[in-house]
Amino acid sequence: MAETAASLKTPTDLKTNAAKTVAQALNGLLADTFALYIKTKNFHWHVSGSHFRDYHLMLDEQAAEIFAVTDDIAERVRKTGNTTLRSIGDIARHQSIKDNDSDFVTAADMLSELRDDNLKLVEALREAKDIADTARDNATSAMIDDWTDQAERRAWFLFEASRQA
Ligand SMILES: [Fe+2]
Repeated sequence: MAETAASLKTPTDLKTNAAKTVAQALNGLLADTFALYIKTKNFHWHVSGSHFRDYHLMLDEQAAEIFAVTDDIAERVRKTGNTTLRSIGDIARHQSIKDNDSDFVTAADMLSELRDDNLKLVEALREAKDIADTARDNATSAMIDDWTDQAERRAWFLFEASRQA
């Protein structure tokens, strides 16, 4: 068989239309997960101030957790017979979490921005779960539960670390 884009049609019993919708939701989540990953790394690299060590290490732990999710999301898209993101440009076209290219961001602003971004990701995960459940895509729905718990845990840590007392 000739190697074409059609070669990437992994067999699945999920209805094409339904799986497509789940794939679109997953590709959006993937773009946001990459955007959150690079922002968390950006802040890991550029954080400064009296809590440097704590924040620097916490953000690195969070970045590693976020990065680990990217492969699971992309492979879920492929397992359900669809194609996923291919480049940094593709990420930029699909992301809803905003980049932060500022020359300087205070440590407090970094923590609150990341907390809000993680909570935005939680909202997107809930929407994707509804789509997955409607499509009867049980595995995606179950995986979304883990990703949600992780994002809520990150938001909790970012909130507590940003308290003044
Ligand atoms: Fe590092």
